[in-house]
Amino acid sequence: MSARPNAAAATTTADSADACCAEPLPVLGRDVTVPLVTGGEVTYAALDYAASAPALQRVWDDVAAYAPYYGSVHRGAGYLSQLSTDLFEQSRVTVAEFLDCREGDQVVFTRSTTDSLNLLAQVVPADCQVFVFETEHHASLLPWRDTQVTYLNAPRTPAQAVETLERALADRDPHGPALVCVTGASNVTGELWPVRELAAAAHAHGARIVLDAAQLAPHHPVSVRELDVDWVAFSGHKLYAPFGSGVLAGRADWLQAAEPYLAGGGASRTVARRADGGVDVEWHTTAARHEAGSPNVIGVYSIASACKALTEAGFDSLVARERHLIDTVRAGLAEVPEVRVLSLFGDDAPRVGVISFVVDGWNSSHFAAALSAEYGIGVRDGLFCAHPLVRTLLGSDPQDPGECGAPEPAAPGERSLNAIRVSFGAGTPDEHVERFVGAVKELVRDGAQWKYRTEDGRCVPDRG
Ligand SMILES: Cc1ncc(COP(=O)(O)O)c(C=O)c1O
Repeated sequence: MSARPNAAAATTTADSADACCAEPLPVLGRDVTVPLVTGGEVTYAALDYAASAPALQRVWDDVAAYAPYYGSVHRGAGYLSQLSTDLFEQSRVTVAEFLDCREGDQVVFTRSTTDSLNLLAQVVPADCQVFVFETEHHASLLPWRDTQVTYLNAPRTPAQAVETLERALADRDPHGPALVCVTGASNVTGELWPVRELAAAAHAHGARIVLDAAQLAPHHPVSVRELDVDWVAFSGHKLYAPFGSGVLAGRADWLQAAEPYLAGGGASRTVARRADGGVDVEWHTTAARHEAGSPNVIGVYSIASACKALTEAGFDSLVARERHLIDTVRAGLAEVPEVRVLSLFGDDAPRVGVISFVVDGWNSSHFAAALSAEYGIGVRDGLFCAHPLVRTLLGSDPQDPGECGAPEPAAPGERSLNAIRVSFGAGTPDEHVERFVGAVKELVRDGAQWKYRTEDGRCVPDRG
């Protein structure tokens, strides 16, 4: 397994200039057209990659080529079962290589990042203290027991993040186990977190660290070894492999020592009745310990296929091309005084293609609905499963009502209760971000062409 560059390394403008002409990677749905409420059709601009990215064509082709050979994994004697088992286990090796795992690390296949972090929460030692920034996605904020978790205040610089963590770890009981859970790239601001520095701080204080790479892995190489994190979690559906699998990879000891995440077949090596009527179980100590039940071989294979496709495309050029898209969006939004981009670490922070913003005088749900209905652009509005962070960035009150407000524009200067998020990646053509920037400018200048109303908590065109 080869060494990888630091995931958090910023790219240069020179890189991005070179990449302007690189082609986006082919993804499914790139020719799909959608109707506009104002009449006619346009190709759909999928700009919600941070939620779920479209499947890479290569992933789809690999899955389709394998599908006729699909068979049960691990327990079948037939040829296709053996072939599927090989493919499943080979996928583990591919993912370990993609993440630049250490000797002895385990790759456990899960359903998603949420599932991976819940699995880890279940295997940490009972007396483990957990440290999480309040800025995390709910998948990182919530799996821990109330009694064990310390929530750290939002830092306003990467250096402050490290200082905050160091202070919290210095105050902890130094004898028990501890775990830090941190995101690699924010699903709200797209900003990269100082993972390597946080890992060094954690280790200096005898703590371990898990990297939530849900938003990082699709955009940057992630090296467990270089970043020196103990575990990493990510989801297939954000990595262009939307077939229901995810990954938790890292140190084997806590995984091996804990009870299985799910009890059942596949996790158990042998099960025998006892004389007293109960059963004795010997659990596997490999990754299978936490993979009870029939595995999702298609989901796992699709992740391995995506890992190979991204590696072969080359992260240098993917990162540089994305830098160009980010620059286009940020420069376009900067020309609209009514737009405020949400940021924790400031304009110069290195970031991935995830940008959240509010528009003065607009309700965010209304704005997102108009982008969809009038321009065929799919973005997201709300609090993005990171309520504390978005509320901090908006300066809004936690007691404020839900995710979707009324469709009427908020008064200019009035605080928004939710935000709009545009996100993109390896499959995004320039035209999509250019259309987005043009649409934002037009909507702010001319207003929406259509009327909107709230239906089931969502803002929708009023076809009344
Ligand atoms: C940073 C981050 N972590 C975790 C998750 C949870 O991922 P999943 O929904 O695939 O479990 C997300 C999803 O948006 C995310 O953005």
